[in-house]
Amino acid sequence: MDIFERRLQNYGPIGKWAEKADGYFMFPKLEGEISNRMIFRGKEKLVWSLNNYLGLANHPEVRQTDAEATAKYGLAYPMGARMMSGQTEYHQQLENELAAFVQKEASYLLNFGYQGMVSIIDSLIDRKDVVVYDSESHACIIDGLRMHLGKRFVFQHNDIGSFEKQLKHAQHVAEQTGGGILVISEGVFGMAGDLGKIDKIAGLKKKYNFRLLVDDAHGFGTMGATGIGTGEAQGVQDQIDVYFSTFAKSMAGIGAFVASDKNIISYLQHNMRSQIYAKSLPMPLVLGSLKRLELLKTQPQLREKLWTIVNALQHKLRENDFNLGRTESPVTPVFLNGGIPEAAQLTYELREKYNVFCSIVAYPVVPKDVLMLRLIPTAVHTLDDVEETVNAFIAVRNNLQSGKYDKKFFPDISMIQ
Ligand SMILES: Cc1ncc(COP(=O)(O)O)c(C=O)c1O
Repeated sequence: MDIFERRLQNYGPIGKWAEKADGYFMFPKLEGEISNRMIFRGKEKLVWSLNNYLGLANHPEVRQTDAEATAKYGLAYPMGARMMSGQTEYHQQLENELAAFVQKEASYLLNFGYQGMVSIIDSLIDRKDVVVYDSESHACIIDGLRMHLGKRFVFQHNDIGSFEKQLKHAQHVAEQTGGGILVISEGVFGMAGDLGKIDKIAGLKKKYNFRLLVDDAHGFGTMGATGIGTGEAQGVQDQIDVYFSTFAKSMAGIGAFVASDKNIISYLQHNMRSQIYAKSLPMPLVLGSLKRLELLKTQPQLREKLWTIVNALQHKLRENDFNLGRTESPVTPVFLNGGIPEAAQLTYELREKYNVFCSIVAYPVVPKDVLMLRLIPTAVHTLDDVEETVNAFIAVRNNLQSGKYDKKFFPDISMIQ
């Protein structure tokens, strides 16, 4: 049978909604300046779905640096991979500054967080090594592990009893193979907003002798007294052996980095296939990241403002009996009961009647009959935005609970004016 035919027979768990949802629930176009209010289908909406935590996306100094760097270097420079012809002093400067900020000896830039993480895992372990990882790990961790030829053990999300049990299995296997153990967790889990128990995990290091890799995509810049991340918030930054974050969230850019001991970073530089066989980050992204990092470090008021909005939003939602699950970070999930058709009608009404734009997550990411509306507060939101949003949420929850949304009907997007 033809490969194309086979694929088109089954679009997959997300793709099967494409016809009904594309352009509205999936692949929506948000236009205008990145801010708390943007244009969706010609109308202004209050937007809660961008990871622009510190509001750096449109900070005037960031915009100026991005523009000047692009004018000076274009998007091509430097050509080639870092190892061959893509090295510059600014790439190295950014790495030194990132390493110093996250309290590691050295760091290395990655073109994307996703590929970077896959490649870190791929180069850090071989078939003799054993991995122990959290069951709610991000796709980039799961996909990195798909390439692992050795054993892996998954522990129940943030369950230290389950973690230790899996560690025991891992220890047993590692003793037989002569390999080591790599433990992987996230700092902030990006869907539910709870923190990885990095402190508790690190507490078992001596007993089981493992190395700890933490993906802190949502924690970098948002968590800890100075924004270093979840390790700082839990007082165990020094226990993280390999620290990873992307620039796609609080840095409002693109690219990522990995930080660790000098020797390990040197090892990764010479073995990480995503960087050896791919072009170096373009200069505007490097200079733009240097500016973003400077602001992240020197303007704590941005993080303070973020947390003012986070606390106001989460407090007001909880006060109105919304279930926010286990969040301890800016990520604000709101759990409601209902199926996908109800989710679609509720989201539609939020957007069209109340002009509130947020992301909706449904099965298979959350259990069947659970809806998760996911709000990302930022430093550019206001307390009025919080008020307006919580009132809209109360209204749509009333509609959901009183059965206003049909359990079978999925709004026809092509009919929406
Ligand atoms: C936890 C986590 N890790 C990695 C990534 C991937 O980063 P990037 O967007 O730079 O590929 C993301 C999302 O962007 C993420 O949420």
